[in-house]
Amino acid sequence: MQVKVIDHPLIQHKLSLIRDVRTGTKEFRELLEEIAMLMAYELTRNLPLEETKVETPLTTCNCKMLSGKKIGVVPILRAGLGMVNGILKLIPAAKVGHIGLYRDHDTLQPVEYYCKLPTDVAERELIVIDPMLATGGSSVAAIEMLKARGAKHIKLMCLVAAPEGVNMVNSHHPDVEIYVAAVDSHLNEHGYIVPGLGDAGDRIFGTK
Ligand code: PRP
Ligand code: URA
Repeated sequence: MQVKVIDHPLIQHKLSLIRDVRTGTKEFRELLEEIAMLMAYELTRNLPLEETKVETPLTTCNCKMLSGKKIGVVPILRAGLGMVNGILKLIPAAKVGHIGLYRDHDTLQPVEYYCKLPTDVAERELIVIDPMLATGGSSVAAIEMLKARGAKHIKLMCLVAAPEGVNMVNSHHPDVEIYVAAVDSHLNEHGYIVPGLGDAGDRIFGTK
């Protein structure tokens, strides 16, 4: 199982709060945004830098700024939307594409309903975001949609994963690195992650 678990203490603390059934919609949204920002900090740790000169009020100094490919953030609707703003706080110049997928309740298969991406998606370093990696069907389908449109550099960032989902993404897309805050125990008979946090989309948007 190839997956990077980002187990920074702040992330683990906030993850425990977000799992709690007593956490309401407003707090859930705030925590998800904060965790997404903290995870993005780790995920971008190896971004390339280039030398540049900066005029300070006192002198000229040699500094570093980001170089290399521009970043694209691709939330899987709906729940991925809850992670976008946290990432954009760190990387405000990132463009945002949207992939609409829902999981059929009976078959658990992903159903595609929307796709709008930056025109230069093939040139960008893409971060696909979704709080939940359960069977893996939605993430695998989203990555396939991106690759079909020319994307070559893709990372997947989720909050909570089931081992089944990690294995499925690994086997379909071995080139895609997966970053999560936790790998949980298993999926239940309805395809929900256990212990998980319930239905992420419903908890973000207050639906049922
Ligand atoms: C949830 C979640 C993922 C998917 C994970 O979305 O946000 O996209 O399920 O399950 P999988 O790994 O088994 O595919 P859902 O289909 O409930 O749609 P929503 O975000 O619109 O509520
Ligand atoms: N989707 C969710 O929102 N939660 C799960 O546990 C599984 C899929």
